[in-house]
Amino acid sequence: MQTIDDLDVAGKRVFVRADLNVPLSGTDITDDGRIRAVAPTIAKLVAAGAKVIVASHLGRPKGAPDPQFSLAPVAVRLGAILGQDVAFATDTVGDSAAAVVAGLADGQVALLENLRFNAGETSKDDAERGAFADQLAALADVYVGDGFGAVHRRHASVYDLPARLPHAVGLLIATEVGVLKRLTEQVDRPYVVVLGGSKVSDKLGVIDNLLGKADRILIGGGMAFTFLKAQGHDVGSSLLQQDQIPVVLEYLERAKQNGVEFVLPVDVAVSASFPDLKAKTPVADFEVVAADAMPAGKMGLDLGPATGKLFAEKLADASTVFWNGPMGVFEHPDFAEGTRAVAAALADGDAFSVVGGGDSAAAVRILGFDEKKFGHISTGGGASLEYLEGKTLPGLAALEN
Ligand code: 3PG
Ligand code: MG
Repeated sequence: MQTIDDLDVAGKRVFVRADLNVPLSGTDITDDGRIRAVAPTIAKLVAAGAKVIVASHLGRPKGAPDPQFSLAPVAVRLGAILGQDVAFATDTVGDSAAAVVAGLADGQVALLENLRFNAGETSKDDAERGAFADQLAALADVYVGDGFGAVHRRHASVYDLPARLPHAVGLLIATEVGVLKRLTEQVDRPYVVVLGGSKVSDKLGVIDNLLGKADRILIGGGMAFTFLKAQGHDVGSSLLQQDQIPVVLEYLERAKQNGVEFVLPVDVAVSASFPDLKAKTPVADFEVVAADAMPAGKMGLDLGPATGKLFAEKLADASTVFWNGPMGVFEHPDFAEGTRAVAAALADGDAFSVVGGGDSAAAVRILGFDEKKFGHISTGGGASLEYLEGKTLPGLAALEN
């Protein structure tokens, strides 16, 4: 892969595909980790005298403009982080983009409006994606791929555009891939993996792969209830993927054969309804119950304190930890303890810890942990999981060619 240093960018229009898909509350950016993560690449191009055109998706708009997914607030924050104005184009490949790009002097930066306001970006049809990539290519002379969080997407700006321009890998992707290599090629043991988040189905591929690599797998978050159910426990009204139970049982069996230790919650915090994440009002019927005695009509929303302690113990002797997915509904203070317990165990421990996934990475920062206490906080959730699954990531393959 070529790096930025291999390219002559002075005076050139350089298209930087970033992942600026940050969590928003209205137009407030609640975690700017992804913006800060790509800033060094942009600053380096600025210093080299490039005209920098930054592009990203935000959320999942349906191929047409949708104001709630505008990148306008991100342009302002990116400017503040870079310490220079960032011009904002109100479209991606239209008149505004053309005018904004034409107006860039060497060392100036522009951000285009959400790539996914255009149906061609995510189209499954090669010709439709290609046509959109052609329009993007017309804006620039050089391509830098640095949107690590989106490299698992076969999208026009990720996959088709680099084939149309001289291209290089940005600083962020280079760092992310270096860390993931360390987890796959030369991992220090014990290697402990913590998985959470809502859906088991999102994690099946990675579990399948890790059953041959990890020493211990801790399961929390909404996905834990499918495991608990598979072990014959009632899970009340908790999230449950009934159709995944056979696969989960097969994994538990294979773990036994491979000597991989699976650790499931022993207690959970429950409520009859999903908490109000906006008002964050205390949950009146909050209760901690044993994982094998969950009451009907209540849903598990976090690990209980005994599980937090158990998980911390299971992390204490680790040399390497990969963590993806929150342990509970950490956005509500009553259900943040499980996520906090795992984050604290990693922050205080000596293991090389990799936190992957937009949600868990944001959780670490939102709960007030010092990022420097972790080995690496990845900007990619799905991307890091698919890398660990051993899949070919379209956005990385495109940069290699
Ligand atoms: C993410 O947040 O997971 C990445 O930005 C990719 O977004 P997507 O899952 O909507 O493709
Ligand atoms: Mg995602």
